[in-house]
Amino acid sequence: MSHSFPPLTAAEAAALIHHDQVIGFSGFTPAGSPKVIPPAIAEKAMAEHAAGREFKVGVITGASTGPSLDGALAKADAIKFRTPYQSDKDLRASINAGKTHFFDMHLSLLPQYVRYGFLGGVDWAIVEAADVSSDGKVLLTTSVGAAPTFLHQAKRVLIELNRRHPKQLLGFHDIYEPESPPHRRPIPICSAEDRIGTQRVWVDPKKIVGVVESNHPDEVKDFSPVTEVTNRIGMNVAGFLAAEIRNGHIPKCFLPIQSGVGNVANAVLGAMGEHPEIPRFQMYSEVIQDAVIELVRQDKCSFVSGVSLTVTDAVLQGMYDNLDFYRGKLLLRPQEITNNPEIVRRIGIISINTALEADIFGNVNSTHVLGQKMMNGIGGSGDFTRNAYISIFTCPSTAKGGSISTLVPMCSHMDHSEHSVQVLVTEHGVADLRGKDPRERAETVISNCADPAYADLLWEYYKLTENGHTPQSFRSAFAFHQAFLESGDMRNTAF
Ligand code: COA
Repeated sequence: MSHSFPPLTAAEAAALIHHDQVIGFSGFTPAGSPKVIPPAIAEKAMAEHAAGREFKVGVITGASTGPSLDGALAKADAIKFRTPYQSDKDLRASINAGKTHFFDMHLSLLPQYVRYGFLGGVDWAIVEAADVSSDGKVLLTTSVGAAPTFLHQAKRVLIELNRRHPKQLLGFHDIYEPESPPHRRPIPICSAEDRIGTQRVWVDPKKIVGVVESNHPDEVKDFSPVTEVTNRIGMNVAGFLAAEIRNGHIPKCFLPIQSGVGNVANAVLGAMGEHPEIPRFQMYSEVIQDAVIELVRQDKCSFVSGVSLTVTDAVLQGMYDNLDFYRGKLLLRPQEITNNPEIVRRIGIISINTALEADIFGNVNSTHVLGQKMMNGIGGSGDFTRNAYISIFTCPSTAKGGSISTLVPMCSHMDHSEHSVQVLVTEHGVADLRGKDPRERAETVISNCADPAYADLLWEYYKLTENGHTPQSFRSAFAFHQAFLESGDMRNTAF
C-alpha cells in the first residue's frame, strides 16, 4: 500500500504544533515512539523561548520513551505536563525539580482516561508507522501502547513513517479498543495467544495532515550484564515457582508469566529459562525485553503477548532477518488489553515485578527514591500485581554499594500494599507472605530476605515496636531513611 498524504519535513510538522496543545505520541518505552518530529518540536520551543514567547505542550504517551522524545523536550523545557510513565534522566530531573507536572498512572487506565476526556482533549496524535494506506490504515512498528486511542481521539494526526521497520510486520499486532461503559462487553481473551482485533489501526484519513519519513532505530539501552546478585534472585524465583508446581499450587502445565522492566527482570527471566523444573511456558506480559526473545528462540517460551518489543537494536535486527520464525509466536496489543485486570485475573498470571524498597510487613515502593524523588513510575506493576494468580516482587537486598537496605521498617512511599503483595524475593531468599498476619510477615521477611548487614537492625526495630495488629513505632519507622539522609549510609541507623 502506498499513501497519498502530504510529505512533510520534521520542521514543517513541528511548525504546525502550537503552545499549550496536547499531543498523544505513540511509543511504549522507546519502542515505536516517533524520533524525528519531537526533536523538531524541541527546536521550535527553544526558538520560541529565545523570542520571548511561551511554548509548552502536554505530552501523553503509552509509557516511557527515548532521548529523542522525553529527553529532547525536557532539555528544551517544552513539557507542560507529562503522563503516564517516564524513565529519561533529563525529564526525571525536571520532574523532581518541580518544573514538569508529572502524574503517575496505572498504564492500563491511560487509554480510557483519554477516551473519557479526563485529561482534556488531544490536539495531535503523532504516531510512528511502518506503513500507512491512503484510506487510513496504519501499520504500527515495535509497540502498540495507546496509539490506537490517540489516533481515534486526536483532532489531527501526523505520521512518522519509519523505513527501518518492514511491512512484513503486518500480522504481529492485535488492535482492539473496548467500548466505554455502560456498553463495554467482556474482553474475549481466554489465553495468551487469542486474537480479538485487527492487524492495523484505522484512522479517518481526513485527519492525517502529513507524513514525515524517518529511518531511526528505537533507542533501547543495553541491559546491565547479569550479576551474581541478579542471577541469585532469578534462581530463587525459579526455585520458588518449581516448588509451587510440585506442591500443586500451580498446575503442571504452568501459567502465563508477566515480567517487569529493567535489569533485574531481564536477569530473572534468563534464570527461569535455565531452571530444569520450569516447563515451557507462555507470557502474557507488558514489555518484551531481550531475555524474552532468547526464551522464544530456545523454545522455552512458546508464545509471548506484550505491548512493546523493547529489545536492543542487534536483537531487533536479528528478529527482522528471521521474521517468519517469530510469526505466530509473538503478538503486540494495546496497553489496556495487555494490562487489563479482567484478563490478568481470568488467565491466572504469575506477575514478577521489581521493587525499589519493601517493608517488613509486605508493602512495596516501586517509584520513589527515599520517598521523595520519582524514579520512573508505577507502570503496569499495579495492573498485574493486584490481580495476579501469584504476585511476586524481586529486588537486590541492598542498593548503592550496600549503603541502602531495600528492606526497611516502613516504606517511604507505597505503591503496592500488603493486600496485593504475595511473595518477596531477594538474593538471600524468598518470603512467602500468603496467609500470614503482619507479625508473621515481618519475621519471614527479616529471616529470609534481609541482607546480613541489616538483619539485626530490622530485628531491633521489630522488637521495639508497640502492641497492635501491625506493630509500628512512629518515632523509629523512618530511622533507616533518616540515617541515610544524615550520613549517606543506612547502616548508621540508631533507634
Ligand atoms: N533507594 C535508592 N535507589 C535505589 C533503591 C533504593 N531503595 N533501589 C534501587 N535503587 C537504584 C539502583 O541503585 C539503580 O541506580 P543506578 O541506576 O544509579 O545504578 C536504580 O535504582 C535501578 O536499579 P536496578 O537494580 O538496576 O533495577 P532495575 O533496572 O531492575 O529497575 C525499578 C528497578 C524499580 C526502577 C524498575 O523496575 C521500575 O521502574 N519499576 C516500576 C515500574 C514497573 O514495575 N514496571 C513493570 C510493569 S510491567
